[in-house]
Amino acid sequence: MASLNLFSFFALLFLCHGALHLQASHHHVYSRLQDGVSAVGSSSSSSKGQPYRTGYHFQPPKNWINDLSGPMIYKGIYHLFYQYNPKGAVWGNIVWAHSTSTDLINWTPQGYGIYPSHPSDINGTWSGSTTFLQDGTPAILYTGINPKNQQVQNLAVPKNRSDPYLKDWVKNLKNPLMAPTPQNRINASSFRDPTTAWMGRDKIWRVIIGSKVDRKGMAVLYTSKDFVNWVRADHPLHSTDGTGMWECPDFFPVLVGGYKNGLDTSKLGPKVKHVLKVKHVLKVSLDDTKHDHYTIGKYDPFVDVYTPDHDGLADQDLGMRYDYGKYYASKTFFDWGKNRRILLGWVNESSTEDDDVAKGWAGVHTIPRKIWLDKSGKQLVQWPIEEVEKLREKGVKKPCQELKPGSVHEVTGVTAEQADVEISFGKLDLSKAEKLDPSWTDPQALCTRKGASVRGALGPFGLLVLGSKCMQEYTAVFFRVFQGHDGKPVVLMCSDQSKSSRNDENDKASYGTFVDVNPALENLSLRTLIDHSIVESFGAHGKSVITARVYPLLAIDGAAHLYAFNNGTQSVKASRLSAWSMKKARIG
Ligand code: FRU
Repeated sequence: MASLNLFSFFALLFLCHGALHLQASHHHVYSRLQDGVSAVGSSSSSSKGQPYRTGYHFQPPKNWINDLSGPMIYKGIYHLFYQYNPKGAVWGNIVWAHSTSTDLINWTPQGYGIYPSHPSDINGTWSGSTTFLQDGTPAILYTGINPKNQQVQNLAVPKNRSDPYLKDWVKNLKNPLMAPTPQNRINASSFRDPTTAWMGRDKIWRVIIGSKVDRKGMAVLYTSKDFVNWVRADHPLHSTDGTGMWECPDFFPVLVGGYKNGLDTSKLGPKVKHVLKVKHVLKVSLDDTKHDHYTIGKYDPFVDVYTPDHDGLADQDLGMRYDYGKYYASKTFFDWGKNRRILLGWVNESSTEDDDVAKGWAGVHTIPRKIWLDKSGKQLVQWPIEEVEKLREKGVKKPCQELKPGSVHEVTGVTAEQADVEISFGKLDLSKAEKLDPSWTDPQALCTRKGASVRGALGPFGLLVLGSKCMQEYTAVFFRVFQGHDGKPVVLMCSDQSKSSRNDENDKASYGTFVDVNPALENLSLRTLIDHSIVESFGAHGKSVITARVYPLLAIDGAAHLYAFNNGTQSVKASRLSAWSMKKARIG
């Protein structure tokens, strides 16, 4: 690693600009884009003049994408459907585009799996999930928009179950199977996104659907004996005041005790072999904030009630999130092939709608992540699936290096705009840490206040990614360690986009979260997947995750650099640093 002095380095960076907060909503139809249908995969934007297209993160050749829907593994093939606008780079005209894969990294487009064709979905085929029926049929429940623009739930099954690619889907003649009526008091514009259903020991199916009543977000519960005739239960599975609409709920069991194996959604607990205990996770995507929140709790299958372990604000915006950056409408599925639960998520753009239209596309998906319950039982842990490591090529490894106060070390020898980087910091002497002011309770606000250029004691230290040569642009992903008022360490992880681009029109938020780790007792690790316009960072072996979208003007087309840095007054030891250039994935 080549070193330079941090003082002059950061001095240069201060020439940069102010921030503009921009949160694009996708429930917005851009009228200029209603013409000219083209099939997904039919034409591809070339990478020339397209510096922000990803090399190994999923995205179709062009147009708008949002939520992934109905992921599954069937006959050894992974299936991914996603909300897609065939007509342009903004939300609208939504169909289920379909891709298949044998490794969740390389994908082959399969056309449209589900698209408007029936009165129960003529105005839109929105998100949903796959459930395996008892005879092994993959059944998709999805939200349709009917001619009155009401949200209703529909069923589709494969036309030919022996086709592993599941190209054609047949809609049930009884659709819609669940619909708002004057009697059931369901809000017709807030009733969407059915989960994977689960079967109780009474052989009855249960499914939840996102909804709200006034400001109370809820998971409306339906039950069925045959998967076709559904009855609304007299209570929701769970609801929370003041949270607004719950989109894309997800409900699944996890093993207690730090086991990384996943469970089928219908596994309820005591009957699972060799298992001491099972907990449940309820994830909701809050429409108001566009954040994915989850709680861990107890599901009582006899009364069909879910109770989070920690009540109160847990499923509101202050509660736990899968990802503290840009990330929404995620969904998990049980991969019985590898006995793991996989989490997939959508990452919207942080650019203006005009920029999206100009580049001809919007939205990517994260690298699929394996997800499990941490040993502490207090939180989930996520890690990029092992298959992504097959894309690693040329790499560099540095055994152990001291990062002196105010130093920056360039990591050369990898393609810095398409890379996978792991760095680990040796145990820290906490007596040197700054005291945490009791008012600093909001990690994102703290990251905004104390960016990479604000000197601390233990930190900031971490990575500067997608940096331009003279450092006019860089995205800083780093830690700062404080001493809490009880003397315990408080670790802050930040992903700071404020200097990521000289284009001031993008969202430049500085994302942040506290990480539940004691850096006096264990190394503090950071892994970052860099892919042109996406920076996915995993702190403390996946206890905290932050994803950012960035659009450098200079650090593109082979001109990006990667650095490790320490801007604290105390030295830190990079006990390990490994970085790899990443091959391009085949994504039709
Ligand atoms: C979440 C969402 C879902 C809906 C879909 C429509 O991003 O709003 O609630 O089903 O997108 O595309």
